[in-house]
Amino acid sequence: MTTIVKRALVAAGMVLAIGGAAQANEGGVSLHKQDWSWKGIFGRYDQPQLQRGFQVFHEVCSTCHGMKRVAYRNLSALGFSEDRIKELAAEKEFPAGPDDNGDMFTRPGTPADHIPSPFANDKAAAAANGGAAPPDLSLLAKARPGGPNYLYSLLEGYASDIPGEAAEWWVKQQQELGLDAAFNEAKYFNDYFPGYAISMPPPLMDDLITYEDGTAATKDQMAQDVVAYLNWAAEPELDARKSLGLKVLLFLGVLTAMLLALKLAIWRDVKH
Ligand code: HEC
Repeated sequence: MTTIVKRALVAAGMVLAIGGAAQANEGGVSLHKQDWSWKGIFGRYDQPQLQRGFQVFHEVCSTCHGMKRVAYRNLSALGFSEDRIKELAAEKEFPAGPDDNGDMFTRPGTPADHIPSPFANDKAAAAANGGAAPPDLSLLAKARPGGPNYLYSLLEGYASDIPGEAAEWWVKQQQELGLDAAFNEAKYFNDYFPGYAISMPPPLMDDLITYEDGTAATKDQMAQDVVAYLNWAAEPELDARKSLGLKVLLFLGVLTAMLLALKLAIWRDVKH
């Protein structure tokens, strides 16, 4: 191999290595890391998984959480038909009015509506949930260190899922306070929530829902799917960005090859 070809290969290797390092930036050491479909330069969202994840959100999480940055019509990116989107939106009620008598009323949602919080305001949300309002989930996959791995760990991190010392400590703590160990009035033990005491009851259990595509709804499957959906919501442009990135890399590759050929042609007749 000529030196120049070797150098070109080394340069190409460096470009790939830098790309890989940028992909590998994750927070939190003790989180459960998952093999997300969208990781790596060739990674993409898995549409059937996003649809299942939305179903989990819609049937479970949306009883407490809103996603105000996602409009129902945005769900067409997940492969839902227009009719299905209309149906999904119509399942939620929105404030409207006033009517001719000056009264406010509610109307079913349309595809232009954004996924609402089920509570009238933050105070009502906090009052119904042991003092902590369920946050809007639109951007949480970006807002928390560890992103999707944190969200997944949180969903898997309730006391009943954790055999070890932490759970024992928690049970003792609760007994000393005279509270029911597993389900006290407001707080639940979660190994991944800062401070361990979270106001969200464990939201998932096996067979809680029936997947429309027939996938077995284990707790782990639902956790993976809903996190994929939450990641899409926070980063919907990821697939497009990666396609563009690959095109740029391809372009740079072709350009390099052409310049190399040009250089070889120019220097062909020069004696060493
Ligand atoms: C019964 C109501 C309820 C349901 C159902 C529910 N949550 Fe929560 N969730 C809460 C409350 C309350 C909080 C605030 C917890 C706190 O601050 O202690 C919360 C907080 C969260 C957080 C933020 C954690 C953090 O780091 O601040 C995430 C993420 C979350 N929920 C995801 C989900 C997902 C995903 C689902 C559906 C699988 C779901 N929740 C279902 C009530 C609920």
